[in-house]
Formats: sequence, C-alpha cells, structure tokens
Amino acid sequence: MAMWGGRFEKGTDALVAKFTESISYDRRLYPHDIRGSQAHVKMLAKVGIIAKAEAEAIRRELDRIKARIDRGEFEFKESLEDIHMNIEAALIEKLGPVGAKVHTGRSRNDQVATDERLYLRAEADEVRELARGLQKSLVALAAKHTGTILPGFTHLQHAQPVVFAHHLLAYVEMLERDRSRLADCRERLDWLPLGAGAIAGSTLPLDREFVARELRFKGALRNSMDAVADRDYVVEFLSALALIAMHTSRLAEDLILWSSQEFTFIELDDAFCTGSSLMPQKKNPDVAELTRGKTGRVYGHLIAMLTTLKGLPLTYNRDMQEDKQGLFDAIDTVKLILATLAPMMAGAKVNGKNMAAAAADPALMATDLAEWLVCQGVPFRDAHHMVGRFVGDCKKRGIGLDQATLKQMRAAIPAAKPECLKMFDPRRSVEARTTLGGTAPSQVKKQVAFWQKALKTP
Ligand code: ARG
Repeated sequence: MAMWGGRFEKGTDALVAKFTESISYDRRLYPHDIRGSQAHVKMLAKVGIIAKAEAEAIRRELDRIKARIDRGEFEFKESLEDIHMNIEAALIEKLGPVGAKVHTGRSRNDQVATDERLYLRAEADEVRELARGLQKSLVALAAKHTGTILPGFTHLQHAQPVVFAHHLLAYVEMLERDRSRLADCRERLDWLPLGAGAIAGSTLPLDREFVARELRFKGALRNSMDAVADRDYVVEFLSALALIAMHTSRLAEDLILWSSQEFTFIELDDAFCTGSSLMPQKKNPDVAELTRGKTGRVYGHLIAMLTTLKGLPLTYNRDMQEDKQGLFDAIDTVKLILATLAPMMAGAKVNGKNMAAAAADPALMATDLAEWLVCQGVPFRDAHHMVGRFVGDCKKRGIGLDQATLKQMRAAIPAAKPECLKMFDPRRSVEARTTLGGTAPSQVKKQVAFWQKALKTP
C-alpha cells in the first residue's frame, strides 16, 4: 500500500507507477532532502510537537540513510515514487512509529520546493566557479596576446584590426555577467518554502523562521500558496544557463572558424580534438561543435519549463514534477561545457603569423583614414564617402589601398597628405584605438590586469 493509500481500495496499476515515478532522477536531491528533514524535526521538537529524543533518533537515522545512499547501498524503489517517500519509508522501516512522525506538518509540495532550492543554491555556486575557471583560462591566454593582431569581424567580413586579447576578453565580460545572473538568481531562490504544507500552512505551531535559519535561508517565504505553486526559480536558473550556453557556443563557433584551414588562426590541442573514422588526415574540433550543439538542448529545457508552467492553476499540480529532468540535464551540460572549455582554451596554440597576415589587409584601415580626415575638419559623412570612393577606385585599378599613389588617392580624397599613405599599418591602427574599452594594447593590458586581480576571488 502506498503512503497515501488510506482512502484507496485498490493498488496502483503498474503503468501508473511507471508514469508517476520520479525516483529514477530525483534521487540526486537526497542530501538536500535529508538536510531539510533534519532541520524540520529539530523544529518539531523545539516547539514540542515531538519529543527531543524522537527528533534525535530521526536525525541520526537520516545520517545513516545518507551514508547508505552515498555508498550506493540504498535500494530505491519505483513503487515509492520519489526521493521523499523512499527516504521516509527507509526511516519508518528502521524507527517504526517514531519514523512516521517525520512528515508531521509537512507535504511533499513544500518539501520538494525546499529540496530544489537547496540544490540550486549549491549548483549556483558550482556553476559560478566553473565559469570563473573558464574566465581565468581566457585571461591567461589573453595576457600572452595583448600585442597579437588579427582582423576583427562584423558580418564575418574583415572590419578593423584588433588584438587577440581583446577578442578573448569580450568573452570574459560575457561570462562575468552570466556569473552575476546566477548570483542574482541565487538571491531570489534562497527562501524557505517548508511550513507551507500542501498549500495553506498548518494548524500546528511550526516555527518556520527557525527552520530557515537552520538551513541558512534568508528567511521563510511569506505566502504558502506561492511557496508550493511557483517554479520561477527553475526558469530563472535555466535562463541563466541558457545564456552561458549561448556565450560558450559563440566562443565555440569562433574556435571552429579559427581552426579551419581557411583561417588557421589557432590550433586546438590534440587532446581536445577527435579524428575521422575514414579520412586519416582529419582533426576535428568536436568539443567546440558539441558545445554549439548542446546549447540547443539547454534552450529546449528552458522553453519546456516555461510551457509546462504556463497553464497551471494555483497551486501545486503534478505537472510540476516535470521540472527536474531538464533542469538537471541543463546543469550537467553547462558544467561539462565550462569544465572542458577551460583546459581546451589553455592548450590552444595561437598562430600569430597567420593572424597578422590576415590583418595586413589595408582595407581594414579605411576607417582610420576617414577619422584622419575628421581631424582635418572634414564632416564624418563626407570623409566616409570620400574614403569609400577611394576604396572603389583601388578595386577598379586592381590594387590594394596601400599601393595607391598620393595622386591616385587625391582623386577621391582631395585633402589627402603624404602621411595618409602610412595609414595602412595594422599595428599603428590598433595602437591608436585608445578609447576606454578600445583595442589599443595599452587599454587591453589594463583590462588583463583588471581581470587577473578580479578573478582571484570567487
Ligand atoms: N515528486 C513530486 C514532485 O517532484 C513531489 C510532490 C508530489 N506531491 C504530490 N502531492 N503528489 O513534484
């Protein structure tokens, strides 16, 4: 007979057990479920609902159950549906009527929300740490390349020269916002649902503030219906993960392009690539590709959760049990991405020569010429137009911008001076971009120093 079986005349159909079980995946919540139960019984004893000795016996037995699960010696039963009832049944098996007191003043509805919040609080810290690991690896690589010039791209077309460190640090910025989103989400999920009961609170004199303190929550959630009904913290967490996946997917895409034969800007370490079963010469950036690929799955989990929640009347509905698999998978996936990209970035070989060769394209410095004209008092729109004409003229002549004579240049840009012919040096170009946040090595070195210091602490 199931724990809730009192009013039933028949046992559950085997298919229903399969249909409703969550133990096959929610077992990972066990340390949090146990910690929550231990705080709960301590409170029950404190307010006099159960005896102190009973609370102590339950707490000790829960420790033993946890040790059994840790060691892989605990037998999870599908017939007991979920982690909450598996643990409770084990408790009752050992302690009898005393064990049967653990669920006093509690429902699985407030219990599962408590477990999830405890779990996500820990995972928020872990994902943040892994993101910091990737940031550190990007900064370490950047520190070596504050003077390595490559073309910056917009529309995947050559735009302006940048230093490689600048490109890498752009990802460090993105990951920093991802980390702050997780911290922010953690702030909001750090509140206790327990004591909400199934929906309406309890007739028993539960001390929710005490439990909140025991579990190091900021406090107890104010509204019992909200406490059991919402999963916005799951959505927020998934959306923070989706953004991390999106950022790392873009980094992966850059790595895939850069390691292609057309670019040959970097070479990934053999340890992070795989070969082809047919073509002997192949070395493929599979980790980067799968980072891109897995991102789709993470997005899917976010949309699935939003969709599951959208039509649910308050408060708890069993639909909400579907919040876990996608969440767990998204967490595992993003952690694996971050953990793998960090050493992969550290081992990437940078081909500065090829980067420099690509950045030598004089067209990359067209903006520099226009800005030189602006300094001569020419309105920017006119300057842009003149340089554009000059680019067109060179194209017609079949020469590079740097091959034009002053006379040829003046046909399009009457104000051109001999110094304009020297404008096509990419190093001069990056060094001149000293704007705050610009790509000048002088600026980028400051940013590297900033991150080296900032990333020392979690
Ligand atoms: N396994 C359930 C879940 O994850 C626990 C809550 C079940 N509550 C209930 N009244 N059936 O949502």
